[in-house]
Amino acid sequence: MADKQEIIEGLTQHLVHSHSPYSGVQVVAAVVYDINGIERTAYGVNVENVSYGLTVCAERSAISTAVTDGMQSIKALYVMSNQADPISPCGACRQVVTEFMQDPSAPVLCVNKTLSKNWKSTLGDLLPNRFDLD
Ligand code: THU
Repeated sequence: MADKQEIIEGLTQHLVHSHSPYSGVQVVAAVVYDINGIERTAYGVNVENVSYGLTVCAERSAISTAVTDGMQSIKALYVMSNQADPISPCGACRQVVTEFMQDPSAPVLCVNKTLSKNWKSTLGDLLPNRFDLD
């Protein structure tokens, strides 16, 4: 699995690119996936809009980047924000994540910016009994 320390550094580096002038809540996500056996990480930040409902969450930003790179399956998801406590993915993002995270035991790690707090979960815990056409 990708080096956790490296991913945390990547999250910190990208968090400042969050476009969040309306809420002030900066969020960055990283998705870990592999292409032809080589592990890769894509980052995404929340992108707010003056028409608030058009805001794109960090998780969905990261997923769009990864899909553009050819990602088909997410192995791990990381979320960092500038809030005192780690934030966990919103309901809409949980549904979008499940499109690409097939393993219910796949790890989800949420941390705050100072890394003083973290919250570990799994896809299965975040979205049990998910909607599926199978
Ligand atoms: N946000 C995310 O980026 N991901 C989530 O899972 C929850 C919320 C963003 C959206 C908005 O820009 C800000 O956090 C406050 O809701």
